[in-house]
Amino acid sequence: MLSLIKHIHSFAKEVKLTSEEWHFAIQYLEESGKWCMPGRSEFMIFSDALGLSMLTVTQDYPKPAHATEATLVGPFLLENAPKFAMGSDISGGAAGTPMHAQGVIRDTEGQPVAHTVIDVWHSDDRGLYDVQDDLEKNGAWARAELTTDADGRYHFWSVLPVDYPIPQDGTAIRMLRATTNRTMRPAHLHFRLQAPGHRTLVTHIFDKNSEHLNSDAVFGVRPSLIADFVHHDAGIAPDGKKMDSEFYTLDYDFVMTR
Ligand code: BEZ
Ligand code: FE
Repeated sequence: MLSLIKHIHSFAKEVKLTSEEWHFAIQYLEESGKWCMPGRSEFMIFSDALGLSMLTVTQDYPKPAHATEATLVGPFLLENAPKFAMGSDISGGAAGTPMHAQGVIRDTEGQPVAHTVIDVWHSDDRGLYDVQDDLEKNGAWARAELTTDADGRYHFWSVLPVDYPIPQDGTAIRMLRATTNRTMRPAHLHFRLQAPGHRTLVTHIFDKNSEHLNSDAVFGVRPSLIADFVHHDAGIAPDGKKMDSEFYTLDYDFVMTR
């Protein structure tokens, strides 16, 4: 607290904060608080957009060699996501091109991590999350909890995520528009992996074809997290399913630390 007070006083002195600006800030924070609820945290978006989230992840999650890098959690994580059997379609009716994702979760010694609880969540092809839709009416979609077997393998169907803007209805977007006007996120899947005896890993897998990999509004991209979402014409999918139209496949293995 002493350090925070020191820096906040020095900030106010440096910018010669006026009463009018101070009132504006208080009102802005009050309004931001109204955009905080399960599945939506406007303060998280501020932290993300100011680079504070990634600074914290970087200094609190030193990356041991060969482990998967962490990135920010973002504002849209919901606890108690719907549980699906491995291999299910988790799209829940979300609009978009079918996508099959698969891989193995290992530890830094190369052993599969059994019984990992995986939370996955992502946008539909409008660039929206279920929490930005009518969650009460439509329930969760493109969001799941899956658990690996002893082999550490995961696989599921959903739809291809797309690039999307920071939510347009809150307060953080006004700060971005008034400053850098950098408001887009590159297409990604969010993952949270939890396994007994291992450090919880929160990360994303980014689509290598996104136009915004170098201009992520919240600085979350790490080169090691960029992957190929491979396009296929109609044909046989990796799980043997016959697809009548185009689809995408993603193969990505995770490495967790003990
Ligand atoms: C997200 O990745 O879901 C996200 C992160 C920051 C702001 C908005 C969304
Ligand atoms: Fe996201």
